[in-house]
Amino acid sequence: MHIVAIDGPAGSGKSSVSKAAAKKLGFGYLDTGAAYRALTWAVLENKMDINGLLAAEIAQKFEYSISLDPENYWVKSFGVDVTEAIRLPVVAEAVSQVAKDAEVRLYMKELTRTLVSGSSLPGVVVEGRDITTVIFPDAQTRILLTASEEVRLSRRSAELPAGVSITEMVTKRDQTDSKVVDFMTPSAGVTLLDSTELSFDETVDAVIHLVRDLS
Ligand code: DC
Repeated sequence: MHIVAIDGPAGSGKSSVSKAAAKKLGFGYLDTGAAYRALTWAVLENKMDINGLLAAEIAQKFEYSISLDPENYWVKSFGVDVTEAIRLPVVAEAVSQVAKDAEVRLYMKELTRTLVSGSSLPGVVVEGRDITTVIFPDAQTRILLTASEEVRLSRRSAELPAGVSITEMVTKRDQTDSKVVDFMTPSAGVTLLDSTELSFDETVDAVIHLVRDLS
């Protein structure tokens, strides 16, 4: 199986680029941030109390499933379709706190690897913050997707509900998250793809090029 690992900050275009690249390649698409968001949603909805839990205990209690089909994306937790709910600002505001817990990260590592190995796909585009470094350091293709802060903010502003502070939602979250895992500098062997000057289609093509060239 060909694993395409893509990391990057919020607003880099990671999710939409990864999904489009997966479609073109005939690969699966795995959004790893969705699991952190769904776990945060479960905490906020009082379906989970993760305080002091070990990774194995989280795995026992947390009910989670996600589609790997880039044409039909959905996320479910405790029998509820949370595809929309996990994008709410209330979740985005709390997710960094959940994502910094070492046992949560250990759980996520197992979960991500299991979701990928359990699929019978020819390849999977896996996107997140620590995919190129911690989750799949041996992936056939490893990319760090960035864009200037100005471009990231303007791309994200289009996605946010009116009245929500973009700086609060994006810059502050990236600052908090990057203290836990460094997704701003590519580690050895990871290709830096800067999309500041690229259109969406050009960025997708650059990813596809890297998949074909580096494999
Ligand atoms: O990509 P996203 O905005 O949906 O991610 C939500 C949060 O999850 C983000 O604030 C950081 C965390 N995350 C992480 O720590 N590691 C990952 N591989 C993916 C996401």
